[in-house]
Formats: sequence, structure tokens, C-alpha cells
Amino acid sequence: MAKKYESIKFDYNNMMADHVGEKEGISAQELAAMRNKAVAAHAEVKLNRGTGMMGWTELPYNQGEVVKDILETAKVVRRNAEAFVVLGIGGSALGPMAVFQALCHLRHNELPKRLRKAPKFYVEDNVDPERMASLLDILNLDKTVFNVITKSGSTSETMSQYLIIMDILKKRYGDKAREHIIATTDSEKGNLIKIARKEGLKTFYIPDGVGGRFSEICPVGLFPAAVLGIDIKALLKGCADMDKACRKADMKTNPALTAAALQYLAMEKGKNISVMMPYTDSLKLMADWYCQLWAESLGKAVNKKGEIVNVGQTPVKSLGVTDQHSQVQLYTEGPYDKVVTFIGVEKYRKEVTISGGAEDFPSVSFLSGHTLNELITSEMYATEYALTKNNRLNNMIILPEVNAYSVGQLMMFFMLETAYAGAMLGIDAFNQPGVEEGKNATYALLGRAGYEAKAEELRSRPAKSDNYVI
Ligand code: PA5
Repeated sequence: MAKKYESIKFDYNNMMADHVGEKEGISAQELAAMRNKAVAAHAEVKLNRGTGMMGWTELPYNQGEVVKDILETAKVVRRNAEAFVVLGIGGSALGPMAVFQALCHLRHNELPKRLRKAPKFYVEDNVDPERMASLLDILNLDKTVFNVITKSGSTSETMSQYLIIMDILKKRYGDKAREHIIATTDSEKGNLIKIARKEGLKTFYIPDGVGGRFSEICPVGLFPAAVLGIDIKALLKGCADMDKACRKADMKTNPALTAAALQYLAMEKGKNISVMMPYTDSLKLMADWYCQLWAESLGKAVNKKGEIVNVGQTPVKSLGVTDQHSQVQLYTEGPYDKVVTFIGVEKYRKEVTISGGAEDFPSVSFLSGHTLNELITSEMYATEYALTKNNRLNNMIILPEVNAYSVGQLMMFFMLETAYAGAMLGIDAFNQPGVEEGKNATYALLGRAGYEAKAEELRSRPAKSDNYVI
């Protein structure tokens, strides 16, 4: 019998004027008036499903063969490798990191091998020379497999890492270097696919229409997850079920559409910051993944008509309860420019009871006998209460438990919410001209052929003045 999974829930009570007051909150009438825009956004997303840069909507359904290959390859890596290292950046790194943090032991790399049951896991998403050198200090290359991931096959950071690692591997293992590197990239475009073919590397393909930040549920994320022993079929089922829950153009039943409409209305009210605040360490990096998705998709200068709009909501990551002691003061009393999204968990995977030992001190001993589970949950609801009392817009996503299925649901929820919000804003949520500009300037600064005009443009920018350097 198929396993029965419980669904995540989206609670938006505290976005509404009934709870946070008429001045800041969204009235039932305002939400009802969003209906036409929401229906149009839903229709646009539905129309474009599986086409252009919306190939990701079909990933829960069209990867049967790919998943088979991933699982077979992962089995071999799990058997032979002590360490598995992802070389990638942005969308080619944040998804693998978020899913690892969500679904593996929180101290995975420190666990003894017999308990870990998978290689140690590292994601190298920066080109800090000290970081690369320190990685090389700790790896046993004989027992390490690298997964170089880049959709464009040309990102300077990732290709630099690849060149460094491949050089070391070739010097040490000659022709057998290829046994230590697996490539994940576009099947046609870019340089990595050409290099991978020349070197005879095992390769996974990033399908057409799947941009970096929407790529976690293709081999970009599924292969590292499978190496870690994560149930990728359950993850994809979670995605599929959330996708199906969002099929209707009805804000009463479609959670991602409602969430997008609420954020759109919040933006109209000047709430240009979206704080993502999970109350579990396992979803800490999910907030980073969300930040990229929301920022890079919605932060745009022009709309689809070519008009200057400069839209977007700045995403901020926060961790409950940790950031109650650093950021929440601002969220409760600072400018009315934020929406806080709590992510709560009904059942943590462990329970820890707070011990006795301070019976003479009632203001400490009241904690004894409670669990950390009760403490963290109470603190989330207490913070929700404090924000709401201060008329701060907030909403909550509740996971019955953090597992592969609920993580799949959560990621699909955010991807669909982003697509709907992009449609409501009238922008292209799937390009990233601002990122490309920086990439091109890097190529020019490092002398890549074909970027001479960009190099000239950079040379002719106004020189910096020493008057402004102290
Ligand atoms: O979402 C995106 O498109 C970007 O963040 C990319 O993932 C990032 O720039 C890395 O690109 P690539 O995978 O082509 O190396």
C-alpha cells in the first residue's frame, strides 16, 4: 500500500486586517479584489507550464529514467567514497545544501561512518582561496568524488574550481582521474559538456527550461541527495502533490497562489522585505535557498512590456529561536516594511527533556520537565504573538515533520509562489540580467576573448577618487 503522507499547511491569519489592524493589514475586500490578478497569474503559469524557462513544473513527472540512473550511480559512489564534494554556485549549490541540511543528520560529517552510512558532504560555493586550500587539507582524494555542477557550463567560479581539482586528480591518477569527477550540466550548451565529453566524465543533464534556482528537483539536487541516501522519490512525490494542490485558480484552495497574492498586496503597502524564519535548524539553509529564489526571480528593473519598474521584495534569512536574540527587536518595533514567514514543525524528529537541578531557583526550575520541543514551539508562537500584537504582518507554514515528502512540498510551494508573484508583478521571473552583468564583467576583467568591449566599458568608468577613501 502506498505510504500516506500528511500535507504542509499555510496559515495567513496574521496577514489580515482582522489580526494586525486595518492600517497595516490586508482586508478581506483587498484580498477579494486580487481575484482577477490571481486568476490571470494562474492562467499565465498554467499556459507556460513545461515550456520556455518553466520546464521545472514537469520535473516531478518526467524523470523516471533519470532517477534510475541517479540511484544506480549514487549507489556506487556511496559504496566507494568517503567524501562527496559539490563544486557549484547559486542555484547549483543552494538546493543541494538546503536538502542536505533538512534531511541528513545535523552533524552528518562528524558522525562515525557506520552511523553516517553515506560519504561526508561538502558544497564549495565560493572561490575564497583559503577555503579551497583548507578543503584540500582535509580530503583523502583516493576516496573522494566531486560533482561539478553548472547549467551554463561557463561560470568562472565553478570552472576555476573544476580546473584546480581536475589538475590535481590528473597528476595523481592519470586517466583514472575521471573516476573522481561527475559533471552535471546542459546537454548541449556551454563548455563543461564539451570538456566532460573530451575527458569521458559520467554526466547528468540539466533539462531545458530549468534555470539554476529552479533546478533542485533535477539531477542538480537529486544526485547529491541520492548519494546522501535521501529518498528522492518521496521528495518528488511531495513536489507533485503540491503542484496538484495548486492546479485550481482559486485562492481558497491554492496555497501558493494565495501566498503570492498576499505578498503582492504587502508589497503594495510598502512591505518590501520578506523575512524567512524557520524554527528548526534543519531548515536553516532552506531560508538561504528561498532567498535566492525570491530575490533573483522577482528583483527586476523592467516588466514584460519593457517599462522600468524596479520591483522586488528583499528576502532576509532568520533562524528561530536564535535570531529572536538579534533581529526580532527590529521586526517588532522597527519600520513597518516587512512580512515575516515562520516555518514551524509539528513533530521534531527527536525529543529532548530539560533536566532538573535548580529546584531552589523557581525562575529557572520552571523549565525542568518541559522538552526543548515545547520550548522552541512556544517561542515561535510567542514571537508570532508579539509581532501580531505590534501589527506586523506575518504568516506561518507548518510541516507535520521534516521529511523528504514535506521538503518536496515546501520547495514546490515556494517555486510556484515565485512564479505566480512574478506573473502578478508582470515581470520575467526566470531571467537574471543583473547576475549576467556581473558574470560578464568578471570575464572582461580576467581577459576572456570576446569580452573586449565590456573590458573597455569597465576601463572607461569614472576613476575612484582618493578623497573618498579614508
Ligand atoms: O539561478 C540562477 O540562474 C543562478 O543563480 C545560477 O544558478 C548561478 O549563477 C550559477 O550558474 P551556473 O549553474 O550556470 O553555473
